Amino acid sequence: MDNTLVRNSFQKYFSTSGDLYFSPGRINLIGEHTDYNGGFVLPGAIDKGILAEIKPNGKDIVRAYSVDLDEYAEFGLEESDKPAQSWACYIFGVVREIIKRGGKVGGFDTAFAGDVPLGAGLSSSAALESTFAFALNDLYGLGIDKFELAKIGQATEHNYCGVKCGIMDQFASIFGKAGHLIRLDCRSLEYEYVPFDPKGYKLVLIDSVVKHELASSAYNRRRESCEAVVAAIQKHHPEVSLLRDADMAMLAEVKNEVSAEDYMRAEYVIEEIQRLLDACDALEKGDYKTVGEKMYGTHHGMSKLYEVSCEELDYLNDVARECGVTGSRVMGGGFGGCTINLVPEEKYDHFIETAVKGFTAKFGKEPKVYPVAISDGARKL
Ligand code: GLA
Repeated sequence: MDNTLVRNSFQKYFSTSGDLYFSPGRINLIGEHTDYNGGFVLPGAIDKGILAEIKPNGKDIVRAYSVDLDEYAEFGLEESDKPAQSWACYIFGVVREIIKRGGKVGGFDTAFAGDVPLGAGLSSSAALESTFAFALNDLYGLGIDKFELAKIGQATEHNYCGVKCGIMDQFASIFGKAGHLIRLDCRSLEYEYVPFDPKGYKLVLIDSVVKHELASSAYNRRRESCEAVVAAIQKHHPEVSLLRDADMAMLAEVKNEVSAEDYMRAEYVIEEIQRLLDACDALEKGDYKTVGEKMYGTHHGMSKLYEVSCEELDYLNDVARECGVTGSRVMGGGFGGCTINLVPEEKYDHFIETAVKGFTAKFGKEPKVYPVAISDGARKL
């Protein structure tokens, strides 16, 4: 992304120049709401993200300017200094989480901007956290390893932004590699780069432009449902500490001990963990038809069992199927945002045209289309 705006803003506010850092947003091919259940995910970093110019200022304050919002914030480094602006809390949280881990960081000046659309399920917040975690680690020579940087971003969400998210988004933003998806086992944190270059297909996101910003409480409730089911299963099978350890037979055993809603949530997660493994096997064989079927399976589960889809996303999924798209599903946390679509090249133009026209006619607003380029993770420019 062009750095002129960030450079000019930094110069204007702070009359000097600093170093530039970038971290990307992410896609996830399959494996949704599995991360906090100890399952697998298959994300990749994208070519859109957050760019920040940063320079230590020798004081005990952070002075931050958001170019996109044209807002300025100033805050200290102590726990009681939490800023009022929600965007500034991401930066504050990262600083606090580093300090809590014994990292010595001082105040700094920063101006930042992004080209990853906000609230579209592409993890703009993880991109923001990763940019600052990566940059502060580098600028202050803290020697924090990459996993811990991702965990600092995740802890920021938990402790300063109210979202009890898993590790996927921050992990993908830090570890991303061009042309590769990353299969991450969210329990052991073992991961593997999987080359992804589906010949004859295009990967494209269609943004329903339904913002999922207010979804954090619904997201946290999903997580609580999963924990409630684990607690019930544990009474019969003490070795089960995450839904990853459970199977459908164990779930069936507790059918009368959990709410019908919690049951459906767990059913989705257990199936989704298996779906991802099946999709990975199919990927290895270049069998994109099966990968695509699994993606449709994920959408169905997210819509009917986990209930994190919405009318607009279901519509986009239906249109994909009608247009012969190989795989399509709502991506990320849900409640709005994008569908991810694996489209045969020869059907691409027709699909995009049909989806955009039909969606606009039905919902009175135009969906956005983002072709995906799988790119590198956090870096200094
Ligand atoms: C959000 C969270 C992730 C993950 C996804 C759903 O993006 O931040 O940790 O749970 O939702 O897969």
